[in-house]
Amino acid sequence: MFSIAVAGKGGTGKTTLSALIIRNFLKSNKRPILAVDADPNSNLNEALGVEIDRTLVSIVDKIMEKKEDIPAGVTKERLLEYHLQDALIESEGFDLLVMGHTEGPGCYCAANNLLKDFMEKLRENYPYLVMDNEAGMEHLSRRTTRDVDTLLIAANPTLVSLKSARRIYEMTQKLKLKIKKAYLVLIENQPDSKLEEEIDIGLPVLGNIPYDEEIKKCSIKGTPLLDLPTNSLALQSVEEVIKKLKI
Ligand SMILES: Nc1ncnc2c1ncn2[C@@H]1O[C@H](COP(=O)(O)OP(=O)(O)O)[C@@H](O)[C@H]1O
Ligand SMILES: [Mg+2]
Repeated sequence: MFSIAVAGKGGTGKTTLSALIIRNFLKSNKRPILAVDADPNSNLNEALGVEIDRTLVSIVDKIMEKKEDIPAGVTKERLLEYHLQDALIESEGFDLLVMGHTEGPGCYCAANNLLKDFMEKLRENYPYLVMDNEAGMEHLSRRTTRDVDTLLIAANPTLVSLKSARRIYEMTQKLKLKIKKAYLVLIENQPDSKLEEEIDIGLPVLGNIPYDEEIKKCSIKGTPLLDLPTNSLALQSVEEVIKKLKI
């Protein structure tokens, strides 16, 4: 299994980058992909054109808070183990797993262990994993997902954004996450947002994603990025970026 995690401050273009990577994988027959939306404020499903009616956390909550309807002799943990699979939303070439809000009313320690086991099992079932993370990387830090082959930190070409990318990188170092390689991906999510000069933040730059009017259009109309025209500038540069990873 090859895993890519995308991190960065909100609004930098993480979800867009994740969706374009998924689209690139699908095109080059790198499938099945497990797409993980680990940002509670995220909308990876919209970028991928998938309807969602459940999250992993909603399934855990529902079962752990259930007071009746559990057959005699069956523990909640056992029932949960059985239903975790329901969290996977199947689509063409990829399955989407939406983590959901992590702050539940109780602490389900047993459930957390089940979640870890579940994620481990998933890693065995999919050759590719693309994970859209929240800025604080809660799920990575809770170790629901262990090692990551490639961490892509999305940043916009502004000093503020680059500094924030640096902080996120430092955080991953402190958490002692097993990340094989980390890179910066510069995303011009505004027109004319090119950097005046190169700023080195101690992370190799894997590539630049230029501003793309087609992406803005999708975002305004709410159309999935999987339907972007193939001549999209951003899509083409994601292809260049992915090539460098030599997956
Ligand atoms: N290459 C790009 N060209 C134009 N707009 C972009 C590009 N990348 C991202 N955007 C826009 O920037 C905004 C934030 O992107 P999004 O992927 O939702 O960020 P995040 O997931 O980091 O919060 C969205 O409106 C998106 O359409
Ligand atoms: Mg997002």
